[in-house]
This record gives sequence, C-alpha cells and structure tokens, in this order.
Amino acid sequence: MIPKTAQLFGDKVRAILLDWFETEGRSFPWRRSARRHQVIEKGKVIHDPYLILVSEVMLQQTQTSRVVEKLPEFLERFPTVEGLAKGSKADLLRAWQGMGYNNRVLRLKTAAEIVVRDYGGEFPDDLKSLRSLPGIGRYTASAILCFAFGQDVPVVDVNVSRVLSRIFFKCYSTEQRLREDDLYDLDEYLLPPGDGYCWHQGIMDFGAAICRARSPSCTHCPLNTVCLSARFPVNASLFDPGATRKSEPYFRDRPRRIWRGKIIELLRDATDGMRARDIIDKLEVGSQPFREKERFHLLTILSSLRNDGLIEVKGMIKEGELVEHDLLQLPE
Ligand code: ADE
Repeated sequence: MIPKTAQLFGDKVRAILLDWFETEGRSFPWRRSARRHQVIEKGKVIHDPYLILVSEVMLQQTQTSRVVEKLPEFLERFPTVEGLAKGSKADLLRAWQGMGYNNRVLRLKTAAEIVVRDYGGEFPDDLKSLRSLPGIGRYTASAILCFAFGQDVPVVDVNVSRVLSRIFFKCYSTEQRLREDDLYDLDEYLLPPGDGYCWHQGIMDFGAAICRARSPSCTHCPLNTVCLSARFPVNASLFDPGATRKSEPYFRDRPRRIWRGKIIELLRDATDGMRARDIIDKLEVGSQPFREKERFHLLTILSSLRNDGLIEVKGMIKEGELVEHDLLQLPE
C-alpha cells in the first residue's frame, strides 16, 4: 500500500533529492561513465554489468572508502567476467585482501563461471535469471538492472530503506524501518521514469551525508519541511540499549569473522601452506596464550573456513574436524 504522504509529497521529495544529487553527489570509480541527472533512454546500457556486480558485492559489507581503493586494483587484475571465471581461488582471495567476508569473492567466481557457461559471457537482463546466480540476491539483481541496464526498477539497500522509511513514516528511533516488501513498492512508486539511476545513487549519497544511520543531520536537511521523522529519530540505543548490538559470535572479545579474516591473511602469504598449529601460534602473538579449549575452538573456526571452501588441507581430501598437524593452504 502506498502511503498518503508519498502521494502528497512524492513529487517534491523527488525534485529535492535529484537536485541535491546533482550538486552534492559523490564521484566514485563505479560511477565513471554516468552523467548526472540525465534521463536515460529506455533500456539503454549505462554501465558495464560486470563493474556493477563487482562494486555492489564489495559495497555490501565493506566501507565505501576501502572499496574506492580496492575496486580499481581488483578490476586491473580481473578486468572481465571471463577472467574472473578462470582465476584461481587462491589468486582471487589474494586480490580480495583487505575486503573481509572472503566468501563473497568465491561466490563471485561461481557466478562468473555461470555467466560465461550459460550466457556466453553476456549478463542476463532480467531479475529471475540474475537472482538465480550464486551470491546475487534481490538487492544486487535489482542494482544490476537499474545501474547497468538503465531499467526503472526499485533498488532497496540499507540507505534507501532508512531514508524512505523516515521521510514517509514517523520513525521514533534511528533503527525503525518499513518492511522490505513495502519499501520495494514505495520505491517503485516514487522512482522517476528514466532517472532511476540518479534517484537511487542520490538516495545512497544522501543517506551517507545527511540522513545518517545514527546521527541524522535534520537541521541541515533540505527535506526537513516534508519529512515525517525530521528531528525525531532518537538514537535507538536510548530506547532499547540492545537494539544496535548485532548478535554475532565472539571469541576472545573479537567477532569470529575477524578471526576468520586473520587466518586467510596468514595463508595469503604462505605459498607452501601452513600447519594448523602454526596458524594458531601466530594468532596468539600479542595476546594471552590460548588454553587447550581455545586452541580447539580455533580448530573449529579453521574447519568452518574449510567447509566454506576458503581453505584446503594440502594434498588430501579430508572429512570431519581438522587437527593441529594438518597442513593448510588457500584453495587451488
Ligand atoms: N552502497 C551500495 N551501493 C552503493 C553505490 N552504488 N554508491 C554508493 N554507496 C553504495
């Protein structure tokens, strides 16, 4: 259901946001060929879909500034979807250094292999085919359609979700959002025909600069006369101290994903592989020695990396939990 507020103020919000993007929009390596605020001919390809896929996958869980630095390096190493499909997993994991969440690059490789094998290296331009590729969910598929193929489809990332929820609904805390399906409907209703690219890129920049997650800048916001939540969103932690804390497994005061990243980091430099025990010893450096139980816990983290295909036991196919003697390496 489209809220009354969107029917009443939609045109005004659209005009203000597009104007704001025209003057304040950021320039990024993944926006090189886009001209700002220019209505796009229906169905015109505006960016290389491979560039959009790689950049959007990077942007999902890595800070924008890091992606700005790493994307050009990655594309230099793997400039085409064919190159990515052919790249060895070890090379890909090395090129992904510093990005975190290493599973993403292996899924990218599998997606690239399918694009090459089933589509002759040309990305499909429909939602269903794109969503059937590994690692490509609703957001990434819509992003490829809108940002690469110039289609007017709704694209809802965390910024779009936050900004639209706040403008058109009264959000009492910084964390409050509409449901995802409602957001897709609302965004589809609002997006200016032929200008979906600037609309979405504009909201993303606006969400980063003004309508920030925890500290929205309502006083300087050009939408503060129409926004239903203006000056309202109070930091969620004041309402509910647990609201912003993510439930993520921890080991020794650090999220498990950080330990996983550190292990991949060690193996990146070890061309002949490393024994599990040496990895654990290296992880220990600078902290209290690990107790036996903790060493065992680290072995389960190593096993989880192996189960995800991010590391291999050198020279053998092994089932079950790893042991400290196992020689580990990045996958071939
Ligand atoms: N976050 C996710 N996608 C983005 C994009 N295309 N531009 C800026 N921030 C983003």
